[in-house]
Amino acid sequence: MSGGAGGAANACFTCHGLQGQGDDVSTPRLAGLDAGYLQKQMEDYASGLRPDDVMSRIAKGLDPDSRRAVALFYAGLPSSTSKSASPSAAAPPPVWRTGDASRGITACSSCHGPNGQGAGEGQPIVAGQPVAYTLEQIDRWKSGKRRNDPRGVMAAAVQRLTDAEARAIAQWLSGQSVSPTPASASASASVSAAAAARPAASRETRRPDRSDGA
Ligand code: HEC
Ligand code: HEC
Repeated sequence: MSGGAGGAANACFTCHGLQGQGDDVSTPRLAGLDAGYLQKQMEDYASGLRPDDVMSRIAKGLDPDSRRAVALFYAGLPSSTSKSASPSAAAPPPVWRTGDASRGITACSSCHGPNGQGAGEGQPIVAGQPVAYTLEQIDRWKSGKRRNDPRGVMAAAVQRLTDAEARAIAQWLSGQSVSPTPASASASASVSAAAAARPAASRETRRPDRSDGA
């Protein structure tokens, strides 16, 4: 894994897929995620803030330059997959859209965007990930195993989520596209006529276009 980004990425492909698309089972997609987010995860795996049997060992084996290089590499891969091409038109679970004030649950959409496409500023894309992966992350925050969220925002958000709600969210997210592609943007515009029922206050902030290398 000392052969620079290309060499390291070759090792990553065996689990994360040739296009960084993940395995649709439990290994997450990396392609098209935010470079800053990916790099932070590599640092957190290495430091132990996000311990994982597989990834901590791998991240520790890379020096900081290589961790940044693989992050940039995967952020630059296209996020389009079969799922992006046909995003599910299903409405998000209510707790995603509005949270639940009576249980102190903040709306997930307020940080991750109405369709899980992220909201910049370290608030990551969570769309298009395998169901089991998303459920595992929610579990790890509940149990405190994953604790790399600034100010504990995620631990607080999922603490009172029921298992049924977590499952519904994970399932719905897995069918959402990672980012609006020019082709699917208009398609999803009509698809989301139903989604116009979203609260007007929900943030429509789009991630900055990552294809510009920013
Ligand atoms: C043996 C399989 C395997 C290999 C090889 C592997 N990964 Fe992973 N990776 C995983 C699994 C499984 C997870 C989910 C772990 C968790 O729950 O935190 C993961 C998670 C990640 C995440 C977190 C993604 C997110 O959305 O938060 C990043 C970033 C990542 N891997 C990057 C890499 C890079 C870069 C390499 C190569 C240097 C690599 N991985 C090699 C299996 C692997
Ligand atoms: C106050 C903002 C905020 C709220 C509310 C919030 N999140 Fe998060 N979420 C974050 C941040 C920040 C991270 C990234 C932490 C890190 O750096 O690893 C994150 C990460 C995640 C991840 C992991 C992504 C990955 O690739 O591993 C999942 C899944 C997730 N959030 C789901 C949810 C769900 C479900 C809800 C609602 C119950 C929710 N979030 C509410 C800010 C928020």
